[in-house]
Amino acid sequence: MCGIVGYIGNKPAQPVLFKCLARLEYRGYDSCGIAVAGNGIDLQKDRLRVGELVKKVPLLEGMTGVGHTRWATCGEPSAANAHPHLDCSGCIAVVHNGIISNFQELQQQLTDEGHHFLSQTDTEVLPHLIEKYYQGNLEEAVAAALKDIEGSYAIVVLREGESKLVVARKDSPLIVGIGDQENFAASDVPAILDYTNRVVYLEEEDIGVITNSGIEIRQNGSVIRRKEHKIPWSVDEAQKAGYEHFMLKEIHEQPRVIRDTLIGYGHEIAPIIDLESMRDTGTEAMLFVACGTSYHAGLVGKCIFEELLGIPVRVELASEFNYYPQTLAKTMSIVITQSGETADTIKATRRLQEKGCHVLAITNVVGSTISRIADLTLYTQAGPEISVASTKSFIAELVALYWLAMSYSIADIKRLADMLMTLRQLPNTVQQVLDNKSGIKQCGEYLAGYDNIFFIGRGINYPVALEGALKLKEISYIHAEGYAAGELKHGPFALLDKDTPVVAVVAKDNTYEAMLNNIREIKTRGAPVIALVENGDESVGEMADFVISVPKVGLIFSPIVNSVVLQLLAYYAAEKRGCPIDFPRNLAKSVTVE
Ligand code: G6P
Repeated sequence: MCGIVGYIGNKPAQPVLFKCLARLEYRGYDSCGIAVAGNGIDLQKDRLRVGELVKKVPLLEGMTGVGHTRWATCGEPSAANAHPHLDCSGCIAVVHNGIISNFQELQQQLTDEGHHFLSQTDTEVLPHLIEKYYQGNLEEAVAAALKDIEGSYAIVVLREGESKLVVARKDSPLIVGIGDQENFAASDVPAILDYTNRVVYLEEEDIGVITNSGIEIRQNGSVIRRKEHKIPWSVDEAQKAGYEHFMLKEIHEQPRVIRDTLIGYGHEIAPIIDLESMRDTGTEAMLFVACGTSYHAGLVGKCIFEELLGIPVRVELASEFNYYPQTLAKTMSIVITQSGETADTIKATRRLQEKGCHVLAITNVVGSTISRIADLTLYTQAGPEISVASTKSFIAELVALYWLAMSYSIADIKRLADMLMTLRQLPNTVQQVLDNKSGIKQCGEYLAGYDNIFFIGRGINYPVALEGALKLKEISYIHAEGYAAGELKHGPFALLDKDTPVVAVVAKDNTYEAMLNNIREIKTRGAPVIALVENGDESVGEMADFVISVPKVGLIFSPIVNSVVLQLLAYYAAEKRGCPIDFPRNLAKSVTVE
């Protein structure tokens, strides 16, 4: 889960590499480095953030280079383990994202052959293997080296004196950005948006040669054409636009995201994608597979689909799904992934397809791996999401799931018309939450003083409680657990006291009375309660210590407004604690390893 970049063109490489790397820090930032080919190869790397390394490094000459921002997997974060890594002669520089599983064996062989290693990383075998196989043609040497490798890789390789970069990928993402007299390689699109929005996605086991005037891609030795995509994102969307953090900006973009996603799907509730083509087995059940926040979207989706389609829905974590036998007969599968690059979700998709299932992907990234392997893709319109903690992409996934369920619903026309009206009002409803956030801020700052917090919900708001707890723990480092409200008495009650606040998501649906009882039980144990309630609700206020009133929406849509409140709550708790909100420690936005 690192970020890699390469540049070849008509500008000094160093500032370009640093700018691209800074945009990839959401993939990891425990150390970073660049190598520029000028007079020989200049290598600069350290256990520093990109902004810190920029200040330390002198201006390097050269218009070709590679760079890396690291999230350590093999070897602790240190200057020696930071990428790029070089061969013995110092002529070949490699940046790598992925895991080489047989590196110890290769390192032993290479050591026996006289190679000398300086780091604890798996990556370092690559420049040495390329050096071993180099006989005047860099791409051939890279291809030979990769034959020895087991595991996953996205790499960019540079050799002194050669005006080209060699790129290759397997199970880790890599794109090529097409510019004017300059070209780029990067792990992800936001890295290069300052320079170009023309992108070619490398496919599995592609090896490419990039010069300043073009790219040539080979698959199994034969030249192959890959489609160029125009990315509909502007560089402004990947800037903070005056907000303190990307997360706060992205939370505030949500009215726009809901509106754009709905505009993209059309004016009337009608199938936006041909699910019927996936129903050839006579679907009797549905399966959602996802990770992290997208998994929580799937759990909300389960409630929506079961209610509107009357069909049983299973929701699986991709990381678990891949490891036990599955009964999938007559099941329609939907995978949900903001980035489209999560390794476990990709593996689950392939596994489903091997078992003969058609897979629909819901994703935010045009041209991402998932969009290329899924049988059908439904895009959300969240725009680039930079903050590691997902916010707007979660809401966009929910909107996609609502729309999909409504377009295939067995509900009566009147109900669907009402739902459509509510859906169209959601941007304004969410805006009301954002315009009245001072109370949420106070509660967030209050929570910042505690070490353990529970989030509870019931029914369709149970996953909202899970997501609220996830947001809080990932950015504020407060231990938070999401629980089904009725389950608290089966264990967590033992932990409740005046130092363990509970955030209760109360909806005016069939769970309302049960939630009131749960809040009473919690208060009896002395725990402070912060309750999210619909505007006008009086009963909860009498019991809770703090009440956050949320605008009324049709019951099935309450997860959207409640989630926005919990995002803000987490944000303000983390801000009060002085946490690095956009880049929480040890986490990466795109988890491209299993
Ligand atoms: C990482 C991110 C989360 C995200 C999860 C799944 O853990 O930090 O924010 O929810 O991956 O990502 P995906 O791109 O598949 O939705």
